[in-house]
Amino acid sequence: MSGQGARIEYREIAKSYGMVQALTPTTLDIEPGEFFSIIGPSGSGKTTLLGVTAGYIPPTGGEILIDGRNIVGVPPFQRNIGMVFQNYALFPHMSVGDNVGFALKMRGVSKAEMAERVARMLDLVRLGDMANRKPSQLSGGQQQRVALARAAVYDPLLLLMDEPLSALDKNLREAMQDEIKQFQAALGSTVLYVTHDQAEAAAMSHRIAIMNHGRVAQVGSPRDLYEHPVDRFVASFLGEANLFDLKEIAAHGNGARAVTAEGFVLHSAMAPNGAAQCACVRPESVNVSDRPVDADNSLEGRIVDATYTAGSLRYRIEVAPDVILTKRTPSVRGEALMPEGTSVYVSWRAEDTLLVNDD
Ligand SMILES: Nc1ncnc2c1ncn2[C@@H]1O[C@H](COP(=O)(O)OP(=O)(O)OP(=O)(O)O)[C@@H](O)[C@H]1O
Ligand SMILES: [Mg+2]
Repeated sequence: MSGQGARIEYREIAKSYGMVQALTPTTLDIEPGEFFSIIGPSGSGKTTLLGVTAGYIPPTGGEILIDGRNIVGVPPFQRNIGMVFQNYALFPHMSVGDNVGFALKMRGVSKAEMAERVARMLDLVRLGDMANRKPSQLSGGQQQRVALARAAVYDPLLLLMDEPLSALDKNLREAMQDEIKQFQAALGSTVLYVTHDQAEAAAMSHRIAIMNHGRVAQVGSPRDLYEHPVDRFVASFLGEANLFDLKEIAAHGNGARAVTAEGFVLHSAMAPNGAAQCACVRPESVNVSDRPVDADNSLEGRIVDATYTAGSLRYRIEVAPDVILTKRTPSVRGEALMPEGTSVYVSWRAEDTLLVNDD
């Protein structure tokens, strides 16, 4: 096992199809051994970024340096990059062991070394006793593990995964998330991981890039992105957000005082930055009380929906016609839900009013 992944540096890498800019010039560094995810809506350029990296999509501009060497123009099979796809793409007529060993055979590795490396890789994905089975004799999760072992067996510089778990059901997907994470930590390889699922990306990654319209909107740790989103798109894409359009905003002390489109006055601990901004309040920052509270931000409302799911309470509170805020909180055992229709006061701290750019 290599124990050390590659450093990837994208320099103004771009891809256009005629007038369509699938990937606008993008500059991005990925650290050796990093688990790096790419999330974003359908059509935002995630697969395009993976494709130019693997080499099956020729970029229309820019460079990709792997450990300092530009690989643009190098044929895919000479790039030493492993790939795992959504549909596994195992060879149905070959045994599990032969599937995993295939890339080694193509590289002319000796039989003895091949047997040893295949066995080690199958042990790592806990399929050591299934080497002689055919893919059709495995469960979906086991097939996905074979695909993982097959992509990693030749110590690639980089592992690319495009929605590798989207064909699996929720429980299996979550189990596989842990497994891929452990597998990556054991190999030490750099992983570039594409997913639609923001919770999956947050659970697995050191850092995440959020893409929108062929552009990287923000890069950061899962926590950075959630607590310091730069714009409305990032704020609403990652987790839940209560968003307010602002019609006025001005500096106030060290922070800001803003008036929302509905006429609510809000206070933020963040100073306005000059650009058009909106306000974001996360559901877990919101307090709900049946009596007035002294807080930086306070609105009156009415509970329109109250639900209990797996250890948490979620309230939807109407504070103006068609303006509904969400509050989420862990539930204390035995605690009663406030019923729908209850008149309440919604409040939060100035520190929890995030000002984000409007887009
Ligand atoms: N061969 C092609 N010709 C023209 N346009 C293309 C081609 N391949 C992709 N595109 C366009 O490039 C953009 C980015 O596509 P890409 O496949 O990277 O999206 P994605 O983020 O992976 O989406 P999804 O989540 O649906 O897989 C889309 O607008 C798509 O329509
Ligand atoms: Mg895609």
